[in-house]
Amino acid sequence: MTGASNENSIGPAMKRMAIGIAALVVLTTLLFFAAPDSFYPWAKAIHVIAVISWMAGMLYLPRLFVYHVEAEKGSGQSETFKVMERRLLRAIINPAMVVTWVFGLWLAWKGFGFQGGWLHAKILAVLLLSGLHGYLAGAVRKFAEDKNEKPARHWRMVNEIPTLLMIVIVILVIVKPF
Ligand code: HEM
Repeated sequence: MTGASNENSIGPAMKRMAIGIAALVVLTTLLFFAAPDSFYPWAKAIHVIAVISWMAGMLYLPRLFVYHVEAEKGSGQSETFKVMERRLLRAIINPAMVVTWVFGLWLAWKGFGFQGGWLHAKILAVLLLSGLHGYLAGAVRKFAEDKNEKPARHWRMVNEIPTLLMIVIVILVIVKPF
């Protein structure tokens, strides 16, 4: 599979993502004006939907790297992993992170005026998760150029980090322990 055909196969995924984001903007605007009093729970619902999508991708991507490391460089299997990784990053993980941040920050401002130890700790944990997101995006580029040097064991360990952060973040926002 050539680089050009990789680009072509990413095209429809990008188109779907653009349609999805446009639909979200329209839905949010309608909800905001039609039901301003119940907009907070709607925003929270959209936030949680985005969180689930982001986490699903963040857990799946390092798992793909584990399999990719085991595929021979230049093989058809390796090229297929490149397409899967780029699609997952561009069509799901990136937009889901943006929607999570936009609605999370709005909830933090509207509901809590950015006050609360749990909220500050949560934002710190989400910054760490976003840093890991950046690291994984860099790894997608390295894999695309056949320049990954890290062994499967490394990606297995990286796979545990989003799980741990997710547990901390969910306890902070639901239990609000401090
Ligand atoms: C991007 C930064 C984020 C900010 C500023 C943020 C902020 C908030 C705020 C203020 C709420 C409303 C809490 C309430 O009404 O009691 C909320 C809800 C929630 N957030 Fe986030 N959040 C962020 C990212 C995340 C992430 C990454 C996760 C999970 C991994 C997450 C999981 C949740 C869950 C499960 C709820 C619903 C909690 C409930 O209804 O009690 N958030 N978030």
